Amino acid sequence: MTAGIDDIAIYIPRLYIDAEDFAKARGLDPVKLQKGLGVSQMAIVDSNQDPAILAANACLKIMQKNKLSPDDIGRLYVSTESAFDESKAMNSYVIGMLEQVYGQGTFEHCGGIETKFACVSGSYALYDNTNWIRAGEAEGKHALVVVSDIAKYDMGSSGEMTQGAGAVVMLLNDEPRLLQFDPKVTATSIKDEYDFYRPFGKETPIVHGQYSNMLYMIQVRKALESYKKKVVSSGLVKMEPGETILDHMDYINMHLPYSNMGKKALAYLVRHEWRQLPRWKRILTEIGIEEPIPKDPRGTIESVLGDEEFMTKDHEFTKLFTKTQEYQEVFESKLASSLIASTMIGNLYTASLYLGFRSSLEYEYQKGVDLEGKRVGFGSYGSGSSAMVFSGVIQPEYKEIVKNMNLVAELEDRRRLTLEEYELLHENRLTPDKSMLHSKKEFVLVDVKTDAESRGERRYSFNE
Ligand code: HMG
Repeated sequence: MTAGIDDIAIYIPRLYIDAEDFAKARGLDPVKLQKGLGVSQMAIVDSNQDPAILAANACLKIMQKNKLSPDDIGRLYVSTESAFDESKAMNSYVIGMLEQVYGQGTFEHCGGIETKFACVSGSYALYDNTNWIRAGEAEGKHALVVVSDIAKYDMGSSGEMTQGAGAVVMLLNDEPRLLQFDPKVTATSIKDEYDFYRPFGKETPIVHGQYSNMLYMIQVRKALESYKKKVVSSGLVKMEPGETILDHMDYINMHLPYSNMGKKALAYLVRHEWRQLPRWKRILTEIGIEEPIPKDPRGTIESVLGDEEFMTKDHEFTKLFTKTQEYQEVFESKLASSLIASTMIGNLYTASLYLGFRSSLEYEYQKGVDLEGKRVGFGSYGSGSSAMVFSGVIQPEYKEIVKNMNLVAELEDRRRLTLEEYELLHENRLTPDKSMLHSKKEFVLVDVKTDAESRGERRYSFNE
Protein backbone atom coordinates (compact mmCIF):
# COMPACT_ATOMS: atom_id res chain seq x y z
CA MET A 1 0.00 0.00 0.00
CA THR A 2 1.23 3.52 -0.79
CA ALA A 3 1.62 6.35 1.72
CA GLY A 4 3.15 9.79 1.86
CA ILE A 5 2.74 13.51 2.41
CA ASP A 6 -0.52 14.87 1.09
CA ASP A 7 -0.11 18.46 2.27
CA ILE A 8 2.20 20.55 4.41
CA ALA A 9 1.66 23.76 6.42
CA ILE A 10 3.87 25.93 8.58
CA TYR A 11 3.39 28.21 11.53
CA ILE A 12 6.17 30.72 12.16
CA PRO A 13 5.96 33.17 15.08
CA ARG A 14 5.64 36.78 13.96
CA LEU A 15 8.60 38.20 15.87
CA TYR A 16 12.14 38.04 14.59
CA ILE A 17 15.58 39.32 15.24
CA ASP A 18 17.63 40.57 12.33
CA ALA A 19 21.20 39.26 11.85
CA GLU A 20 22.48 42.82 11.42
CA ASP A 21 21.08 43.98 14.81
CA PHE A 22 22.19 40.80 16.52
CA ALA A 23 25.74 40.93 15.18
CA LYS A 24 26.11 44.58 16.16
CA ALA A 25 25.00 43.87 19.73
CA ARG A 26 27.35 40.90 20.10
CA GLY A 27 30.34 42.59 18.42
CA LEU A 28 30.28 40.17 15.49
CA ASP A 29 30.73 40.76 11.80
CA PRO A 30 27.19 40.52 10.31
CA VAL A 31 28.74 38.89 7.25
CA LYS A 32 29.69 35.91 9.43
CA LEU A 33 25.98 35.33 10.09
CA GLN A 34 24.66 36.25 6.66
CA LYS A 35 27.31 34.66 4.45
CA GLY A 36 29.24 32.38 6.83
CA LEU A 37 26.21 30.66 8.38
CA GLY A 38 23.41 31.73 6.02
CA VAL A 39 21.38 33.38 8.80
CA SER A 40 19.58 36.65 7.94
CA GLN A 41 16.67 36.54 10.40
CA MET A 42 15.75 34.34 13.33
CA ALA A 43 12.11 33.79 14.34
CA ILE A 44 11.48 34.34 18.06
CA VAL A 45 8.44 33.30 20.12
CA ASP A 46 6.33 35.83 21.99
CA SER A 47 5.78 35.56 25.76
CA ASN A 48 2.36 33.92 25.17
CA GLN A 49 3.70 31.17 22.90
CA ASP A 50 5.23 27.76 23.55
CA PRO A 51 6.01 24.83 21.24
CA ALA A 52 2.54 23.29 21.76
CA ILE A 53 0.99 26.54 20.51
CA LEU A 54 3.17 26.58 17.41
CA ALA A 55 2.09 22.97 16.75
CA ALA A 56 -1.62 23.65 17.36
CA ASN A 57 -1.61 26.74 15.12
CA ALA A 58 0.01 24.71 12.33
CA CYS A 59 -2.54 21.87 12.76
CA LEU A 60 -5.47 24.27 12.65
CA LYS A 61 -4.12 25.79 9.44
CA ILE A 62 -3.81 22.47 7.62
CA MET A 63 -7.20 21.23 8.83
CA GLN A 64 -9.00 24.40 7.80
CA LYS A 65 -7.23 24.55 4.46
CA ASN A 66 -8.24 20.95 3.64
CA LYS A 67 -11.70 21.28 5.25
CA LEU A 68 -10.90 18.32 7.50
CA SER A 69 -12.94 17.48 10.56
CA PRO A 70 -11.50 15.69 13.62
CA ASP A 71 -13.19 12.50 12.35
CA ASP A 72 -10.84 12.54 9.36
CA ILE A 73 -7.78 12.36 11.62
CA GLY A 74 -6.75 8.97 13.05
CA ARG A 75 -3.39 9.92 14.54
CA LEU A 76 -1.72 13.07 15.75
CA TYR A 77 1.99 12.89 16.57
CA VAL A 78 4.08 15.76 17.87
CA SER A 79 7.84 15.60 17.57
CA THR A 80 9.80 18.10 19.61
CA GLU A 81 12.88 18.61 21.74
CA SER A 82 11.39 21.66 23.45
CA ALA A 83 9.12 19.64 25.77
CA PHE A 84 7.99 21.32 29.00
CA ASP A 85 6.69 18.20 30.73
CA GLU A 86 8.50 14.94 31.49
CA SER A 87 5.33 12.85 31.31
CA LYS A 88 2.41 14.52 29.59
CA ALA A 89 2.83 14.33 25.83
CA MET A 90 2.69 17.50 23.79
CA ASN A 91 0.05 16.14 21.42
CA SER A 92 -2.34 16.04 24.37
CA TYR A 93 -2.02 19.83 24.78
CA VAL A 94 -2.44 20.24 21.02
CA ILE A 95 -5.62 18.17 21.01
CA GLY A 96 -6.92 20.20 23.95
CA MET A 97 -6.42 23.38 21.95
CA LEU A 98 -7.94 21.98 18.76
CA GLU A 99 -11.00 20.85 20.73
CA GLN A 100 -11.56 24.46 21.77
CA VAL A 101 -12.31 25.08 18.08
CA TYR A 102 -13.85 21.74 17.03
CA GLY A 103 -15.67 20.85 20.27
CA GLN A 104 -14.95 18.87 23.44
CA GLY A 105 -14.19 15.20 22.80
CA THR A 106 -14.06 15.54 19.00
CA PHE A 107 -10.54 14.01 18.86
CA GLU A 108 -11.31 11.27 21.40
CA HIS A 109 -10.79 8.48 18.85
CA CYS A 110 -7.40 9.84 17.78
CA GLY A 111 -4.13 8.19 18.88
CA GLY A 112 -0.65 9.59 19.07
CA ILE A 113 2.44 10.34 21.13
CA GLU A 114 5.20 12.89 21.49
CA THR A 115 8.46 11.62 20.04
CA LYS A 116 11.96 12.67 21.07
CA PHE A 117 15.38 12.25 19.50
CA ALA A 118 16.66 15.81 19.05
CA CYS A 119 16.06 16.98 15.47
CA VAL A 120 15.58 13.53 13.91
CA SER A 121 12.46 12.48 15.86
CA GLY A 122 10.06 13.98 13.31
CA SER A 123 11.50 11.67 10.69
CA TYR A 124 10.93 8.65 12.94
CA ALA A 125 7.34 9.88 13.51
CA LEU A 126 6.78 10.19 9.76
CA TYR A 127 8.13 6.68 9.26
CA ASP A 128 5.87 5.19 11.97
CA ASN A 129 2.79 6.90 10.62
CA THR A 130 3.62 5.98 7.03
CA ASN A 131 3.79 2.36 8.14
CA TRP A 132 0.49 2.69 10.03
CA ILE A 133 -1.07 3.69 6.70
CA ARG A 134 0.81 1.04 4.71
CA ALA A 135 -0.33 -1.63 7.16
CA GLY A 136 -3.93 -0.77 6.32
CA GLU A 137 -4.72 0.37 9.87
CA ALA A 138 -5.77 3.90 8.96
CA GLU A 139 -9.22 2.91 7.66
CA GLY A 140 -9.36 5.90 5.38
CA LYS A 141 -8.23 8.37 8.04
CA HIS A 142 -5.25 10.71 7.82
CA ALA A 143 -2.31 11.13 10.18
CA LEU A 144 -0.98 14.49 11.29
CA VAL A 145 2.73 14.65 12.11
CA VAL A 146 3.71 17.98 13.61
CA VAL A 147 7.33 18.95 14.16
CA SER A 148 7.57 21.93 16.47
CA ASP A 149 10.47 23.56 18.28
CA ILE A 150 11.99 26.63 19.80
CA ALA A 151 15.74 26.66 19.16
CA LYS A 152 17.06 28.71 22.06
CA TYR A 153 20.70 28.90 23.12
CA ASP A 154 22.50 30.63 25.99
CA MET A 155 22.92 34.36 25.57
CA GLY A 156 26.42 35.15 24.35
CA SER A 157 27.12 31.54 23.25
CA SER A 158 28.14 30.71 19.69
CA GLY A 159 24.84 28.84 19.26
CA GLU A 160 22.88 32.05 19.88
CA MET A 161 23.37 33.07 16.25
CA THR A 162 21.61 29.88 15.09
CA GLN A 163 18.26 30.25 16.89
CA GLY A 164 14.75 30.12 15.45
CA ALA A 165 11.24 28.85 16.17
CA GLY A 166 8.30 27.35 14.32
CA ALA A 167 6.25 24.30 13.45
CA VAL A 168 5.65 22.31 10.29
CA VAL A 169 2.72 19.93 10.03
CA MET A 170 2.42 17.16 7.47
CA LEU A 171 -0.81 15.47 6.52
CA LEU A 172 -0.23 11.83 5.62
CA ASN A 173 -2.53 9.45 3.77
CA ASP A 174 -2.63 6.63 1.22
CA GLU A 175 -3.27 8.88 -1.78
CA PRO A 176 -0.77 11.68 -1.18
CA ARG A 177 -0.87 14.62 -3.55
CA LEU A 178 2.67 15.80 -2.74
CA LEU A 179 5.13 13.00 -2.10
CA GLN A 180 4.94 9.24 -1.92
CA PHE A 181 7.61 7.61 0.26
CA ASP A 182 9.82 4.96 -1.35
CA PRO A 183 9.18 1.63 0.40
CA LYS A 184 11.83 -0.51 2.10
CA VAL A 185 14.73 1.94 1.79
CA THR A 186 14.58 4.04 4.97
CA ALA A 187 18.01 3.76 6.59
CA THR A 188 19.29 4.82 10.00
CA SER A 189 22.47 5.18 12.02
CA ILE A 190 22.76 5.68 15.77
CA LYS A 191 25.52 6.36 18.33
CA ASP A 192 25.63 7.40 21.98
CA GLU A 193 27.14 10.91 21.77
CA TYR A 194 27.24 14.25 23.60
CA ASP A 195 27.47 16.75 20.75
CA PHE A 196 24.34 18.63 21.85
CA TYR A 197 22.01 17.76 24.74
CA ARG A 198 19.68 19.41 27.23
CA PRO A 199 19.70 17.94 30.76
CA PHE A 200 16.48 17.92 32.84
CA GLY A 201 15.48 21.34 34.07
CA LYS A 202 17.80 23.25 31.74
CA GLU A 203 16.09 25.47 29.20
CA THR A 204 19.03 25.70 26.79
CA PRO A 205 21.29 22.96 25.45
CA ILE A 206 24.94 22.22 26.15
CA VAL A 207 26.62 22.33 22.77
CA HIS A 208 29.96 21.31 21.30
CA GLY A 209 29.50 23.24 18.08
CA GLN A 210 32.32 22.10 15.77
CA TYR A 211 32.07 18.55 17.12
CA SER A 212 28.34 18.54 16.32
CA ASN A 213 28.98 19.76 12.77
CA MET A 214 31.37 16.91 12.09
CA LEU A 215 29.29 14.26 13.83
CA TYR A 216 26.24 15.31 11.80
CA MET A 217 28.11 14.72 8.56
CA ILE A 218 29.57 11.37 9.66
CA GLN A 219 26.24 10.03 10.88
CA VAL A 220 24.30 11.09 7.77
CA ARG A 221 26.98 9.51 5.62
CA LYS A 222 26.64 6.23 7.50
CA ALA A 223 22.87 6.28 7.01
CA LEU A 224 23.42 7.08 3.32
CA GLU A 225 25.68 4.02 2.97
CA SER A 226 22.93 1.86 4.39
CA TYR A 227 20.28 3.58 2.22
CA LYS A 228 22.42 2.83 -0.83
CA LYS A 229 22.49 -0.89 -0.04
CA LYS A 230 18.73 -0.97 0.53
CA VAL A 231 17.98 0.89 -2.67
CA VAL A 232 20.05 -1.56 -4.70
CA SER A 233 18.83 -4.72 -2.94
CA SER A 234 15.17 -3.64 -3.13
CA GLY A 235 15.59 -2.91 -6.87
CA LEU A 236 14.33 0.67 -6.48
CA VAL A 237 17.30 2.02 -8.40
CA LYS A 238 19.68 0.30 -10.78
CA MET A 239 23.15 1.74 -10.34
CA GLU A 240 25.36 1.81 -13.43
CA PRO A 241 29.17 1.72 -13.12
CA GLY A 242 30.57 5.19 -12.43
CA GLU A 243 27.35 6.39 -10.80
CA THR A 244 26.63 7.40 -7.21
CA ILE A 245 23.36 7.13 -5.35
CA LEU A 246 23.18 10.93 -5.31
CA ASP A 247 22.90 10.87 -9.12
CA HIS A 248 19.54 9.15 -8.56
CA MET A 249 18.15 11.86 -6.28
CA ASP A 250 16.77 14.85 -8.16
CA TYR A 251 16.55 16.81 -4.90
CA ILE A 252 18.34 16.47 -1.61
CA ASN A 253 16.98 17.99 1.60
CA MET A 254 19.29 18.14 4.59
CA HIS A 255 18.65 18.96 8.24
CA LEU A 256 19.34 22.70 8.52
CA PRO A 257 20.48 23.92 11.96
CA TYR A 258 21.52 26.94 9.88
CA SER A 259 21.21 27.29 6.16
CA ASN A 260 24.90 26.79 5.29
CA MET A 261 25.07 23.50 7.18
CA GLY A 262 23.10 22.07 4.26
CA LYS A 263 25.84 23.25 1.90
CA LYS A 264 28.57 21.89 4.14
CA ALA A 265 26.86 18.51 4.53
CA LEU A 266 26.11 18.13 0.83
CA ALA A 267 29.73 18.94 -0.04
CA TYR A 268 30.88 16.28 2.44
CA LEU A 269 28.52 13.62 1.08
CA VAL A 270 29.25 14.39 -2.56
CA ARG A 271 32.99 14.45 -1.96
CA HIS A 272 32.91 11.04 -0.28
CA GLU A 273 30.71 9.57 -2.99
CA TRP A 274 32.70 10.98 -5.91
CA ARG A 275 36.08 10.01 -4.46
CA GLN A 276 35.45 6.40 -5.54
CA LEU A 277 34.49 7.30 -9.12
CA PRO A 278 36.45 7.96 -12.33
CA ARG A 279 35.18 11.59 -12.35
CA TRP A 280 37.23 12.37 -9.19
CA LYS A 281 40.50 12.53 -11.19
CA ARG A 282 39.09 15.31 -13.35
CA ILE A 283 37.75 17.18 -10.32
CA LEU A 284 41.10 16.98 -8.50
CA THR A 285 42.74 18.51 -11.55
CA GLU A 286 40.21 21.35 -11.45
CA ILE A 287 40.76 21.90 -7.70
CA GLY A 288 44.51 22.05 -8.25
CA ILE A 289 45.65 20.93 -4.77
CA GLU A 290 45.97 17.51 -3.18
CA GLU A 291 43.20 16.25 -0.96
CA PRO A 292 44.55 16.49 2.62
CA ILE A 293 44.64 13.48 4.95
CA PRO A 294 44.56 13.86 8.77
CA LYS A 295 47.72 12.89 10.71
CA ASP A 296 45.68 10.09 12.29
CA PRO A 297 43.17 9.01 9.63
CA ARG A 298 41.56 6.48 11.98
CA GLY A 299 41.44 8.92 14.90
CA THR A 300 38.52 10.33 16.83
CA ILE A 301 36.50 13.41 15.91
CA GLU A 302 38.44 15.27 18.63
CA SER A 303 41.80 14.24 17.16
CA VAL A 304 40.74 15.34 13.68
CA LEU A 305 39.40 18.67 14.97
CA GLY A 306 42.63 19.13 16.96
CA ASP A 307 44.79 18.54 13.88
CA GLU A 308 45.02 22.23 12.99
CA GLU A 309 47.17 21.75 9.90
CA PHE A 310 44.72 19.23 8.47
CA MET A 311 41.67 21.37 9.37
CA THR A 312 43.13 24.44 7.61
CA LYS A 313 44.04 22.49 4.50
CA ASP A 314 40.73 20.64 4.48
CA HIS A 315 38.85 23.92 4.76
CA GLU A 316 40.77 25.27 1.76
CA PHE A 317 40.19 22.05 -0.20
CA THR A 318 36.46 22.08 0.58
CA LYS A 319 36.15 25.71 -0.52
CA LEU A 320 37.84 24.93 -3.85
CA PHE A 321 35.76 21.76 -4.27
CA THR A 322 32.50 23.66 -3.76
CA LYS A 323 33.58 26.09 -6.49
CA THR A 324 34.04 23.35 -9.12
CA GLN A 325 31.51 23.38 -11.91
CA GLU A 326 30.45 19.78 -11.18
CA TYR A 327 29.69 20.52 -7.54
CA GLN A 328 28.01 23.84 -8.35
CA GLU A 329 25.63 22.04 -10.72
CA VAL A 330 24.67 19.54 -8.02
CA PHE A 331 24.29 22.28 -5.43
CA GLU A 332 22.16 24.56 -7.61
CA SER A 333 19.90 21.87 -9.00
CA LYS A 334 19.43 19.62 -5.96
CA LEU A 335 19.83 21.71 -2.79
CA ALA A 336 19.87 25.51 -3.22
CA SER A 337 16.09 26.10 -3.17
CA SER A 338 15.70 24.18 0.10
CA LEU A 339 18.00 26.64 1.91
CA ILE A 340 16.02 29.83 1.25
CA ALA A 341 13.42 29.58 4.02
CA SER A 342 16.01 28.76 6.66
CA THR A 343 17.89 32.03 6.03
CA MET A 344 14.69 33.94 6.94
CA ILE A 345 13.59 31.83 9.91
CA GLY A 346 16.57 30.05 11.49
CA ASN A 347 16.83 26.68 13.18
CA LEU A 348 13.55 24.90 13.91
CA TYR A 349 15.27 21.74 15.21
CA THR A 350 12.78 18.93 14.32
CA ALA A 351 11.04 21.13 11.76
CA SER A 352 14.15 22.39 9.91
CA LEU A 353 14.37 19.54 7.44
CA TYR A 354 10.69 19.87 6.53
CA LEU A 355 10.78 23.64 6.26
CA GLY A 356 13.61 22.99 3.79
CA PHE A 357 11.44 20.52 1.86
CA ARG A 358 8.66 23.08 1.63
CA SER A 359 11.13 25.74 0.57
CA SER A 360 12.49 23.49 -2.16
CA LEU A 361 8.99 22.77 -3.52
CA GLU A 362 8.00 26.44 -3.60
CA TYR A 363 11.18 27.84 -5.12
CA GLU A 364 11.67 25.04 -7.67
CA TYR A 365 8.05 25.49 -8.79
CA GLN A 366 8.67 29.22 -9.14
CA LYS A 367 11.62 28.44 -11.43
CA GLY A 368 9.14 26.62 -13.69
CA VAL A 369 10.60 23.14 -13.11
CA ASP A 370 8.17 20.25 -13.64
CA LEU A 371 8.50 18.34 -10.39
CA GLU A 372 6.29 15.38 -11.20
CA GLY A 373 8.13 12.08 -10.74
CA LYS A 374 11.22 13.69 -9.23
CA ARG A 375 12.90 11.73 -6.44
CA VAL A 376 13.58 13.68 -3.25
CA GLY A 377 16.20 12.40 -0.80
CA PHE A 378 16.10 13.41 2.87
CA GLY A 379 19.13 13.57 5.19
CA SER A 380 17.78 13.85 8.72
CA TYR A 381 20.04 14.32 11.74
CA GLY A 382 19.44 14.53 15.47
CA SER A 383 22.12 15.17 18.04
CA GLY A 384 22.85 12.57 20.60
CA SER A 385 22.89 11.07 17.86
CA SER A 386 21.00 9.47 15.03
CA ALA A 387 20.60 10.03 11.31
CA MET A 388 17.96 8.82 8.89
CA VAL A 389 18.09 8.80 5.11
CA PHE A 390 14.98 8.09 3.07
CA SER A 391 13.34 9.22 -0.14
CA GLY A 392 10.08 9.76 -1.95
CA VAL A 393 8.68 10.71 -5.33
CA ILE A 394 6.72 13.87 -6.16
CA GLN A 395 3.17 13.01 -7.22
CA PRO A 396 1.22 14.19 -10.30
CA GLU A 397 -1.17 16.33 -8.19
CA TYR A 398 1.63 18.29 -6.49
CA LYS A 399 0.75 21.53 -8.31
CA GLU A 400 -2.60 21.74 -6.50
CA ILE A 401 -0.63 22.30 -3.30
CA VAL A 402 2.56 23.97 -4.40
CA LYS A 403 0.99 26.67 -6.60
CA ASN A 404 -0.44 28.34 -3.48
CA MET A 405 2.78 28.32 -1.45
CA ASN A 406 4.06 31.80 -0.70
CA LEU A 407 6.60 31.99 2.08
CA VAL A 408 7.24 35.71 1.72
CA ALA A 409 3.53 36.44 2.09
CA GLU A 410 3.35 34.18 5.15
CA LEU A 411 6.22 36.10 6.75
CA GLU A 412 5.04 39.53 5.61
CA ASP A 413 3.34 40.46 8.85
CA ARG A 414 6.43 40.08 11.07
CA ARG A 415 7.83 42.50 13.57
CA ARG A 416 11.58 43.16 13.89
CA LEU A 417 12.54 43.11 17.56
CA THR A 418 15.03 45.51 19.07
CA LEU A 419 17.88 43.83 20.92
CA GLU A 420 16.39 44.98 24.24
CA GLU A 421 13.02 43.40 23.41
CA TYR A 422 14.71 40.20 22.27
CA GLU A 423 16.68 39.96 25.52
CA LEU A 424 13.53 40.52 27.59
CA LEU A 425 11.93 37.58 25.82
CA HIS A 426 15.07 35.46 25.97
CA GLU A 427 15.31 35.88 29.74
CA ASN A 428 11.59 35.04 30.16
CA ARG A 429 10.99 38.40 31.84
CA LEU A 430 7.58 38.90 30.21
CA THR A 431 4.47 37.08 31.41
CA PRO A 432 1.95 35.79 28.82
CA ASP A 433 -0.38 38.76 29.43
CA LYS A 434 2.46 41.15 28.47
CA SER A 435 2.97 39.68 24.98
CA MET A 436 4.48 41.91 22.29
CA LEU A 437 1.75 41.08 19.76
CA HIS A 438 -2.00 40.64 19.98
CA SER A 439 -2.69 37.75 17.66
CA LYS A 440 -6.01 36.99 16.02
CA LYS A 441 -7.34 33.56 14.99
CA GLU A 442 -4.53 31.87 16.88
CA PHE A 443 -4.01 29.87 20.04
CA VAL A 444 -2.20 31.67 22.85
CA LEU A 445 -0.88 30.74 26.26
CA VAL A 446 -2.89 32.33 29.05
CA ASP A 447 -0.92 31.13 32.06
CA VAL A 448 1.13 28.40 33.68
CA LYS A 449 0.07 27.46 37.20
CA THR A 450 2.66 27.76 39.98
CA ASP A 451 0.79 26.54 43.09
CA ALA A 452 1.83 23.17 44.56
CA GLU A 453 -1.39 21.32 43.62
CA SER A 454 -1.44 22.20 39.94
CA ARG A 455 2.10 23.34 39.19
CA GLY A 456 2.90 23.30 35.48
CA GLU A 457 -0.72 23.18 34.28
CA ARG A 458 -1.08 25.30 31.18
CA ARG A 459 -4.14 27.24 30.11
CA TYR A 460 -4.59 28.11 26.48
CA SER A 461 -7.22 30.04 24.61
CA PHE A 462 -8.14 30.69 21.00
CA ASN A 463 -8.05 34.39 20.17
CA GLU A 464 -11.00 35.15 17.89
P1 HMG B 1 31.44 29.36 15.20
O1 HMG B 1 32.35 28.25 15.60
O2 HMG B 1 31.56 30.62 15.95
O3 HMG B 1 31.54 29.70 13.67
O4 HMG B 1 29.94 28.88 15.34
P2 HMG B 1 32.70 29.34 12.63
O5 HMG B 1 33.97 29.92 13.08
O6 HMG B 1 32.63 27.88 12.31
O7 HMG B 1 32.15 30.17 11.39
C1 HMG B 1 31.00 29.77 10.72
C2 HMG B 1 31.20 30.04 9.23
O8 HMG B 1 31.28 31.44 9.03
C3 HMG B 1 32.51 29.46 8.70
O9 HMG B 1 32.24 29.05 7.36
C4 HMG B 1 33.44 30.65 8.70
O10 HMG B 1 34.48 30.52 7.75
C5 HMG B 1 32.49 31.77 8.34
P3 HMG B 1 32.67 27.58 6.85
O11 HMG B 1 34.10 27.46 7.12
O12 HMG B 1 31.87 26.62 7.68
O13 HMG B 1 32.29 27.59 5.42
N1 HMG B 1 32.91 33.10 8.82
C6 HMG B 1 32.76 34.22 8.10
N2 HMG B 1 32.29 34.44 6.86
C7 HMG B 1 32.26 35.71 6.42
N3 HMG B 1 32.71 36.77 7.15
C8 HMG B 1 33.22 36.59 8.38
C9 HMG B 1 33.26 35.27 8.91
N4 HMG B 1 33.67 34.73 10.08
C10 HMG B 1 33.45 33.41 10.00
N5 HMG B 1 33.65 37.62 9.08
C11 HMG B 1 28.53 26.94 15.13
C12 HMG B 1 29.29 28.03 14.41
C13 HMG B 1 27.59 26.25 14.16
C14 HMG B 1 29.51 25.91 15.69
C15 HMG B 1 27.72 27.58 16.30
O14 HMG B 1 26.84 28.53 15.81
C16 HMG B 1 26.94 26.55 17.12
O15 HMG B 1 27.47 25.96 18.06
N6 HMG B 1 25.63 26.33 16.78
C17 HMG B 1 24.80 25.38 17.50
C18 HMG B 1 25.12 23.95 17.15
C19 HMG B 1 24.82 23.61 15.71
O16 HMG B 1 24.02 24.24 15.06
N7 HMG B 1 25.41 22.49 15.20
C20 HMG B 1 25.13 22.04 13.87
C21 HMG B 1 25.33 20.55 13.70
S1 HMG B 1 24.48 19.61 14.96
C22 HMG B 1 22.82 19.69 14.50
O17 HMG B 1 22.52 20.06 13.41
C23 HMG B 1 21.80 19.31 15.52
C24 HMG B 1 21.03 20.48 16.11
O18 HMG B 1 20.09 20.98 15.19
C25 HMG B 1 20.35 20.03 17.40
C26 HMG B 1 19.51 18.78 17.37
O19 HMG B 1 19.72 17.80 16.68
O20 HMG B 1 18.63 18.77 18.19
C27 HMG B 1 21.94 21.63 16.50
